This record gives sequence, C-alpha cells and structure tokens, in this order.
Amino acid sequence: MPSFPTSPEDLTSPTILPSPSTSQEWWDALKHRPEQLLAWLLDQYRGEATAAERIERLRDAYGAEPRAQRVLTVIADQERKHAGWVGGLLRTRGVDPIVSDKQDRYWKRALPGVQDFETGCAVGAHAERMRLERIEVIAADPDTPEDIRGVFTRILPEERFHERAFRTLAGARALEATRGAHALGRQALGLAP
Ligand SMILES: [Fe+2]
Ligand SMILES: [Fe+2]
Repeated sequence: MPSFPTSPEDLTSPTILPSPSTSQEWWDALKHRPEQLLAWLLDQYRGEATAAERIERLRDAYGAEPRAQRVLTVIADQERKHAGWVGGLLRTRGVDPIVSDKQDRYWKRALPGVQDFETGCAVGAHAERMRLERIEVIAADPDTPEDIRGVFTRILPEERFHERAFRTLAGARALEATRGAHALGRQALGLAP
C-alpha cells in the first residue's frame, strides 16, 4: 500500500474534548477558549497544508483515468488555497503556521482501508463528509469569531465539492468497504458515530 493515498484534512481537536460529542457541542466548547481554538486552527492548517500532497499521491499512485486525475488536481489546488486562508487566521493571532509531524489519530485508523484508487477516494469522501459536519456548524454559528467564520464560509462550498467528487470516484462498493476504517478513525477523534 502506498503511504498516503488520500485526502487529508483532519479534524483533530486533541486538547479538548470530553468524548464523544456532536459537532455543535464540540464547537460550543471550543469557540470561546482561545488557547484550544488556536490548537485546533493549527491542526486545521496542518490538515489543509498536507492535504494537497496526499491527494496528489493518490492521483499518481494507481494510474487513474485522466478525468479523475484532473478532478484530484483541482481538489489539491483548493486545499493549498485553504491552507493559506487558515494560515492567515493564525498569523492574525500571532501564531506562525507550521506543520508539525504529529501522528494523526484519524488517518492512522482510516488509511489501512485503502487498497486501490477507489478505496483511496472512499476514505477521502468519508473524511471530507466528517469535516463538513464541523465546518457547517462553524459557518452557521453567529457566535463564531468573524474572521474564522469568513474563512470557513468560503471553504465550505469547496469541501462540499470534494466530498461529492470523492464519493463519485469511489463508488458504492469502496465506500462500503472503507466504512469500518472510517468509524475507527472517528472513534479515535472522540466523535459520536
Ligand atoms: Fe480544504
Ligand atoms: Fe477537502
């Protein structure tokens, strides 16, 4: 199995949660705690910044058809742009956006489910879907700090596109085959099933 065959952003919020929790409970607990919010933004930055490379590796690893490769190129470019936006949120708060090599709890469980291009896309689809649940909460909450809400409101439609694209490229069989690995990853993040 190639090393990092899939989409990327993780949702980790390592320092915070009593688990498991819904996305709204998670955000309510996080949004007014500056230190933990910063830690989460850094995780987001790491996820977005490493996303592009993982997606490009998936694109190149299995000789996928040209149309599928082009879709993954578009997604990878958008992830790079998202990293820039989230990096801006960090800099505004006096933090340098850097990527640490911290082990990722979600991907450690989810990646063993990847056997080929389709299951790589399926793992990407599950991860994007999971991430959307949180971004939707953040973008809809009038209490979200304004600049953060602005960035995630811009990110949201593109992540919706990523989820749809990965799901289509994966197909039903691969989505089903990777459901168990995804559930383990979710559990590792302390998210309700
Ligand atoms: Fe992204
Ligand atoms: Fe994405």
